[in-house]
Amino acid sequence: MRAEEWDERYAERQQWSSDANALVAALLEGLAPGDAVDLAAGEGRHALWLADRGWRVTAVDFSAVGLDRGRAQAGADRVAWVAADVTTWATEPASLDLVLVAYLHLPEPDTLDLLTRAVGWVRPGGRLLVLGHDVGNLTAGVGGPQEPAILHSVDRLAPVAALLEVDRLEQVSRETPAGTALDTLLWGRRPAGTGRSGGSVRP
Ligand SMILES: C[S@@+](CC[C@H](N)C(=O)[O-])C[C@H]1O[C@@H](n2cnc3c(N)ncnc32)[C@H](O)[C@@H]1O
Repeated sequence: MRAEEWDERYAERQQWSSDANALVAALLEGLAPGDAVDLAAGEGRHALWLADRGWRVTAVDFSAVGLDRGRAQAGADRVAWVAADVTTWATEPASLDLVLVAYLHLPEPDTLDLLTRAVGWVRPGGRLLVLGHDVGNLTAGVGGPQEPAILHSVDRLAPVAALLEVDRLEQVSRETPAGTALDTLLWGRRPAGTGRSGGSVRP
């Protein structure tokens, strides 16, 4: 979907719960706060959640309407809101303790390029958290985009996982009012001893 389509969707109504995704919250809860980027932050539920816990957060999304909704929330002044296309946006190499990418669905080459660049932005020992709809959701789950080409899977995220010390790379279930949804989770750390001299990462 293009930025204008997301703007229209956000303009209709608040799209998602303002609460952080339960799995995202559970994984990040115990981490010491640092520098984070929430890529495709939407209405900013995770960026706001992180800022509330002391993280210095940049929320990047190409929907100005979605970002404006985030900016209107309590605590929004603690988040840096950036309107940009994540496929071209970049930050300093090895400058972040966390990159979060929740429910961003791009064609597979764009996803791999973005996530590979994102690993380069993470400090050694820092974290990448990717969570999104799994391709298996089309046949055995509920909700989410219905285009197989933009959905995640363990196999599709494997080239990114190969750049990390992986804690979890798996299909996970999420209970919704409509039934059980299937997501893909990638949760890992950039290995120590990488990225201090530029941060360029290629699979
Ligand atoms: C399903 S929403 C998820 C929002 C947020 N991560 C969350 O979990 O609540 C997907 C978001 O991706 C954003 N998005 C999609 N493609 C993008 C791109 N190329 N650059 C920036 N944002 C993009 C949309 O504007 C939308 O806000």
